[in-house]
Amino acid sequence: MGVSAQNSINLDTEAAKTTISKEIYGHFAEHLGRCIYGGIFVGEDSSIPNIQGYREDVVGALKDMHIPLLRWPGGCFADTYHWKDGIGPRQNRPSIVNVNWGGVTEDNSFGTHEFLNFCELIGAEPYVNINVGSGTVQEASEWVEYVTSSNVSPMTDLRKKNGREKPWDVKFWGIGNENWGCGGNMTPEYYSDLYNRFATYCHGDLYRIAGGPNVADYNWMEVVMQKTTRHRHLVQGVSLHYYTFTTAWEDKGSATDFGEKEWFAVLSRTLRMDELVTKHSAIMDKYDPDKKIGLIVDEWGDWFNVEEGTNPGFLYQQNTLRDALVAGVNLNIFNNHSDRVKMANIAQMVNVLQSVILTQDDQMVLTPTYFVFKMYAVHQNAELIPMDLKCEDYEVDGQKIPAISASASEKDGVVSITMCNLNPNKAETIDLNLAGTSVKTASGEIVTSKNMNDYNDFGQAEKVNLQSFEVKKPKDGKLTIEIPAKSVVLVQLQ
Ligand code: AHR
Repeated sequence: MGVSAQNSINLDTEAAKTTISKEIYGHFAEHLGRCIYGGIFVGEDSSIPNIQGYREDVVGALKDMHIPLLRWPGGCFADTYHWKDGIGPRQNRPSIVNVNWGGVTEDNSFGTHEFLNFCELIGAEPYVNINVGSGTVQEASEWVEYVTSSNVSPMTDLRKKNGREKPWDVKFWGIGNENWGCGGNMTPEYYSDLYNRFATYCHGDLYRIAGGPNVADYNWMEVVMQKTTRHRHLVQGVSLHYYTFTTAWEDKGSATDFGEKEWFAVLSRTLRMDELVTKHSAIMDKYDPDKKIGLIVDEWGDWFNVEEGTNPGFLYQQNTLRDALVAGVNLNIFNNHSDRVKMANIAQMVNVLQSVILTQDDQMVLTPTYFVFKMYAVHQNAELIPMDLKCEDYEVDGQKIPAISASASEKDGVVSITMCNLNPNKAETIDLNLAGTSVKTASGEIVTSKNMNDYNDFGQAEKVNLQSFEVKKPKDGKLTIEIPAKSVVLVQLQ
């Protein structure tokens, strides 16, 4: 295994400061497969240890990971969801068919109260996605009132009757989801008009998020920005969705059975997030030069073929060291664009797509992605330190991507630098130039493993997790680090 020395990071500690919103470390839980039922909620009568029906092991793991925010109830499910089906005594709630995800029966036992109380339990801010596709303006308006109002009104009375005296503190409201597709197959012009109408009747001091583009649909962003910013007070964020698969949507590749070619393909695809964020931000700049409107990447992550023998509508996939790298790379991108990216939500939290947690009956597995989120929690609400990163390429079959991805921040006098070495064959040596920082202690953590497709499985010893990583103390503002092949590393200086 070779070692290189052509890499450097210059940290600009004097540059203007942007706060990295803690919401960039957000998650997403949809009524899909075993995310909610089995993954989060098992009911009070379950033999699986639970707190008011919520899995005790999952609650503990999410708290340890410092989860800041959770989006719910979808996804495509959101535009079929009628919130009044999910309130009141459980035995009286109607069942519906989850038409998007496997055609299974949804008994609505996890509804508004269950979601918002769960957020309070795990210490996460809630982000609720309203139904625009098949819902009404009145339904949306009443949901906001039911959840947030302390006025005397029919909806607050109903909430109190259902056991919740005080309103919940819910700032983030998404108005529709993927309205170019499962959320109504609309044109951007039609959706924007509808957005303005829905947003008008969602009263209060809310952070309203418009349904934004899919991947590189720049026209969608242009039209939505142009039409919604005419009523500037009604739009605080616009979403963006981008998923990473191996080579083709029709056959997304295996989550675990891959070689270097597929490793490279996934990492090079995921790096496209930087281009997407840059280009969508440039369009937003035209209508919002002061960057008051957030780019909300409320669905991102790896989407592979489902595990053999599982329901294709449940989107259950394993999670390897490659997913850890994908998480590290994307979180670095969001940090570095934190002047515009104000929230991001990896899809999805438990048992669906690139999860941080997998469950099987009473067992729980923490995935490699989990450990990256835990490691990167140091960036939540920290000040971004802009950097100049120079690194060599990682090349496969004549195609090249940068070997290193990185971002840095400062909080409470601690400088935290997260770095990913995308090359699975070679350690990368990097010089960190830290002019302007006086350092007394240096420490580190690492997520890596022997093989690129190692993962954690039920009933087996954890193969991929967070380990400590030795870092020497910098000398004269300089520190040289060797980042092992295929690893995600945190260096902290104080
Ligand atoms: O996360 C799975 C699905 O992906 C969501 O329901 C939808 O919004 C997107 O297409």
